[in-house]
Amino acid sequence: MTVLASALDPASPEYTAHREAMLAKLAELDTEQAKALEGGGEKYVQRHRDRGKLLARERIELLLDPDTPFLELSPLAAWGSEYPVGASMVTGIGVVEGVECLITANDPTVRGGASNPWTLKKAFRAHEIGHANRLPSIHLVESGGADLPSQKEIFIPGGALFKHLTQSSAAGIPTIAVVFGNSTAGGAYVPGMCDHVIMVKERAKVFLGGPPLVKMATGEESDDESLGGAEMHARTSGLADHLAQDEHDALRQTRRVVARLNWRKAHADPSTPAVPPKYDADELLGVVPGDLRTPFDPREVIARVVDGSDFDEFKPLYGTSLVTGWASLHGYPLGILANAQGVLFSEESQKAAQFIQLANQRDIPLLFLHNTTGYMVGKEYEQGGIIKHGAMMINAVSNSRVPHLSVLMGASYGAGHYGMCGRAYDPRFLFAWPSAKSAVMGPQQLAGVLSIVARQSAAAKGKPYDEDADAALRAMVEQQIESESLPMFLSGRLYDDGVIDPRDTRTVLGICLSAIHTAPVEGARGGFGVFRM
Ligand code: COA
Repeated sequence: MTVLASALDPASPEYTAHREAMLAKLAELDTEQAKALEGGGEKYVQRHRDRGKLLARERIELLLDPDTPFLELSPLAAWGSEYPVGASMVTGIGVVEGVECLITANDPTVRGGASNPWTLKKAFRAHEIGHANRLPSIHLVESGGADLPSQKEIFIPGGALFKHLTQSSAAGIPTIAVVFGNSTAGGAYVPGMCDHVIMVKERAKVFLGGPPLVKMATGEESDDESLGGAEMHARTSGLADHLAQDEHDALRQTRRVVARLNWRKAHADPSTPAVPPKYDADELLGVVPGDLRTPFDPREVIARVVDGSDFDEFKPLYGTSLVTGWASLHGYPLGILANAQGVLFSEESQKAAQFIQLANQRDIPLLFLHNTTGYMVGKEYEQGGIIKHGAMMINAVSNSRVPHLSVLMGASYGAGHYGMCGRAYDPRFLFAWPSAKSAVMGPQQLAGVLSIVARQSAAAKGKPYDEDADAALRAMVEQQIESESLPMFLSGRLYDDGVIDPRDTRTVLGICLSAIHTAPVEGARGGFGVFRM
């Protein structure tokens, strides 16, 4: 009875058009993600290999359990900025000796692995994920420290990196540093702050100041090895707990350290294998219309993501522009809120607030599937209390304590982005489909509002209004807002954890839910703000 029916017709021209539009966007995404995979480009990759070193992604691959997935986070970080795509660091969640770990790896082929402002943001986000979900973290270090030309952006905020490491340690979350090369100055505090340290012989260089700096500071003559070599740290300073013969040995030793952590998740894995959805995930390519003004039924998505396509809808007849209900995903219970017709009215907002409270009473994580143009505007709705009802939903989302997951499928505009647990509302993970768009409002609407304001301003000053300039301004603003609302742009700014292929949604969310259950899942039993009734 509760297995969703599907009205999607893969033979229809609409489906074909949606699918083609999505595949075109996925091809663009591949091109951009390939830039992150290239690291610093052929020359620097070759030089790195010639030195007998493994690339950042190869190190991760050798660290992980064979045939287990790696959920890479923020691969497009720095997209659209003056820094290379990927932000000279790889971060993600992977399984080591059966333990889900948060992994970061500097990419030494990109400007010596130096950290620029986007590297910092990416590292902070990775730490946040590790901390919130209580994932042991492994840091594969080889970095030229701060990207010196951009030091003003990173030196002061960057100090938090070391604070986060020690705070994780204080919270009982294991931290491991594996040093493959340079880790100087501030970078020396990565091994300095971690619970476990492994260093590669004749490769690791961990000192507060290198030979030239020491010479300048004290006049002392020194060399790399005596100041910060792996042997010295393993035998003399005691900073290294394990001396590795080479990179492979370091990764092997890291796996042994993880195996001995005696790490236990707060929640056992689901006991029975999950029933797959009844419908093919491939059909997710044909759900979202190229033109987001055309609504689509999010039940078509839910049916292709949750276990057995089984969905118990809550209040199906009330506030129908927001679909709410219960399901499970890879065996984990889940409450889902999904926009149906785009606009959120008072009824939808109240329904959402009630649903979120229920999930908190039952300790059930929530998934928000975005396709909203925001809360309804207009005299009737203002008089009907849309502000207080929207506030009720935002209050519930803000003070909810169960883990939240957000997926931007289509539009995510205005305060609707907030009510649906946008980035600022701290979802444990937030992903976007290539079809997503997010901004304060749609480009035409924003350009139109600006034009009305300018027209009124001219009238107030008694000046004539230049219609040609207005048209040009509108076109320019529309184009600017459109480009700023696209997933690649938003992902580049770390406003999501990655742009994903819709077909991977179930797998990605399954990995997230498994990681989430490492920490206790406990809802708020009260503690919401005052609900305006
Ligand atoms: N900031 C900005 N650019 C940096 C950098 C940094 N911290 N470290 C390296 N780079 C750049 C280099 O200028 C070089 O650019 P180029 O190829 O355009 O000339 C590129 O990154 C590669 O550096 P290179 O020195 O050729 O690589 P390497 O692998 O031989 O050595 C380091 C890497 C990190 C050991 C070395 O570059 C170094 O010592 N950097 C400075 C480290 C430091 O003192 N940082 C300050 C700490 S707060």
